[in-house]
Amino acid sequence: MFDLTGRTALVVGAGSGIGQASAIALAAFGANVICADVNVANCDLTLAQIHEQGGSGSTLAIDMRDGANVKAALADIAADILMCTPSINVRKPLLQISEEEFDRVINLNMRGTFLVLKTIAAGMVARGRGSIIVCSSIRGDVVEPGQSIYASTKSGVRQMCRALAAEVGRKGVRVNLIAPGAVETALTAPIKNDPTWYNAYANRNALGRWAQPSEMAGAVVFLASDASSYVTGSVYHVDGGWTAIDGRFEPKI
Ligand SMILES: NC(=O)c1ccc[n+]([C@@H]2O[C@H](COP(=O)([O-])OP(=O)(O)OC[C@H]3O[C@@H](n4cnc5c(N)ncnc54)[C@H](O)[C@@H]3O)[C@@H](O)[C@H]2O)c1
Repeated sequence: MFDLTGRTALVVGAGSGIGQASAIALAAFGANVICADVNVANCDLTLAQIHEQGGSGSTLAIDMRDGANVKAALADIAADILMCTPSINVRKPLLQISEEEFDRVINLNMRGTFLVLKTIAAGMVARGRGSIIVCSSIRGDVVEPGQSIYASTKSGVRQMCRALAAEVGRKGVRVNLIAPGAVETALTAPIKNDPTWYNAYANRNALGRWAQPSEMAGAVVFLASDASSYVTGSVYHVDGGWTAIDGRFEPKI
């Protein structure tokens, strides 16, 4: 059920964090993985790890902020699986966010994801099969001060993917999201450098710790494979129980 032999997986964001771990895991289950990123040098490192474990793949330069670049980069790609991760966050109170910062976050997180989905899903529909996985976040459910625009995009991609799932399901294409909790990656490095903040996030979830990127990969392989053949339009929370508990107070019982 989980075997991906003979499948082509495109991982956009494969140069770092959750995308890198997903690319390595998809290759371990047999997929030929196209490792795409704006930082293609980092994809070389991902591909080296794929080769080390006996897998196969290639690298691809892509800039999701540029529609013409996305179209050109993906024109010849016939993917059975798409995993798309790139997003940025500007942590500031809404009253301090500039129009430029708003545009920058929306441009990558929403518009860039839309461009990749549109291009890759079209080929999947034409071939009558495919599985798409996009990164939402616990911030699509719950927020904290400073997350207004980022959280909006993490909620926004959910509805974009649910609508796409409704549109392409009868063409054999499934679309799902994962909602990670606190994962140690480049994106969250500023938090790791602040012990109070880091420990607060560790203690906020049921498992009492942060996740490693590789701990997201099981859900990604599941959603990519035939093991999830009846799963579409879903959001898989891989959050250590963050959204299950309110975490404000531990009563003495
Ligand atoms: N790390 C977490 O704790 C966490 C929690 C919840 C959700 N997420 C979500 O998971 C996803 C991945 O996060 P991560 O922590 O792995 O991030 P990351 O910063 O480690 O990796 C993101 C990758 O995207 C690439 N990228 C950036 N801009 C790009 C562009 N214009 N075109 C193509 N590639 C580009 C970067 O070069 C990088 O390799 C994001 O959508 C994020 O919102 C992360």
